[in-house]
Amino acid sequence: MSTAQQVPDILSPEFAADPYPAYRVMRESAPLILHEATQSWIVSRYEDVERVFKDLAGQFTTENYDWQIEPVHGRTILQLSGREHAVRRALVAPAFRGAELQEKFLPVIERNSRELIDAFRHTGRADLVTDYATRLPVNVIADMLGLDKADHDRFHGWYTTVIAFLGNLSGDPEVAAAGARTRVEFAEYMFPIIRERRENPGDDLLSTLCAAEVDGVRMSDEDIKAFCSLLLAAGGETTDKAIASIFANLLAHPEQLAAVREDRSLIPRAFAETLRYTPPVHMIMRQTATEVELSGGTVPAGATVTCLIGAANRDENRYRDPDRFDILRDDLTTTTAFSAAADHLAFALGRHFCVGALLAKAEVVTGVGQLLDAMPDLRPADGFDLVERGVFTRGPQSLPVRFTPAAA
Ligand code: HEM
Repeated sequence: MSTAQQVPDILSPEFAADPYPAYRVMRESAPLILHEATQSWIVSRYEDVERVFKDLAGQFTTENYDWQIEPVHGRTILQLSGREHAVRRALVAPAFRGAELQEKFLPVIERNSRELIDAFRHTGRADLVTDYATRLPVNVIADMLGLDKADHDRFHGWYTTVIAFLGNLSGDPEVAAAGARTRVEFAEYMFPIIRERRENPGDDLLSTLCAAEVDGVRMSDEDIKAFCSLLLAAGGETTDKAIASIFANLLAHPEQLAAVREDRSLIPRAFAETLRYTPPVHMIMRQTATEVELSGGTVPAGATVTCLIGAANRDENRYRDPDRFDILRDDLTTTTAFSAAADHLAFALGRHFCVGALLAKAEVVTGVGQLLDAMPDLRPADGFDLVERGVFTRGPQSLPVRFTPAAA
């Protein structure tokens, strides 16, 4: 076991500016760090993070979400285990895959993406973060739930606050207070809508949740509100970062951008490689149920383990030349990249593997395709210098681009 002294602290400005050099040092010489400030054990090697997520020996729980997220969301699927988790997951999973995704929600994604692009397609300029990435996923979820997209700014404010609460590693009291306010505001917003939807069900996901029974019992208003809050945050912030990052990565590698433009079937590869190279979620925590041996030492029972996805995805023992963005790399399987058999760790693995992975893929494939069509000679704005923000979740701060507007 190592102490945190040899590597930049995960709460330092240096780490926030660029965590990748620190990740390398951790993997190589400090694979298990007891981090005093967050009272957690940090793991960074692929084999350790994979083992914690898969949890084949039943040694880990998600009880960390009791303090990490329940204070803002209420109790959600992330905290559940066993049958209770499986039943709750089965309620929403169909909406996020297969026929329901293709027939019902793909048109929603296509329409929302077109609407956003219409606002700038004739101007020759856009900021792909503020004009597109921060808007598409949350608009899609709002439409899926049958909420009013006109409330976009409020949704965006809420989910940003929720994610800030989740990633409040330094325990900033203002971030905690904002989270508490969001819980109240979101409940005040949702409860009347849930009551109305119970009386007049529609064809939307919120009505499905209202009608659904878990072991013969309907979900309470509180349960449904918590679920919606999670969907907005889990589906909003993450996909937002993913869309911005895929463009940042492609713009930084013009030959790969040209290849994707030429052959759109490469978009899922470019997305999978983006998830490996620049994952939207850099950290996920777990609690140990028993004492556990990991590289570098023993973690006691009842401890918090911080899994560094961003570090594990660049492990040289797993990926060749891991710091190179290469959509054609042969050590990342694209066909499984959006299922629990994925060999990158961006969606976690095991029971809580991201239930929205295929929805995210559909948004990225649609979005990248439509944006490339609308922006024939897409290029970064002059003088643009990429700045990434975030330690818990991470992505480009802005992405100003220029293009010759496509003929109407
Ligand atoms: C690129 C985009 C996305 C990334 C990187 C991502 C990442 C993740 C990760 C890492 C987890 C595992 C959390 C854990 O094990 O503690 C997770 C779970 C989850 N995600 Fe996603 N996510 C994305 C998109 C979405 C979307 C679009 C939705 C739905 C609207 C969604 C809904 C969820 C839900 C409900 C869970 C909890 C699943 C469970 O506990 O069984 N995510 N996601």
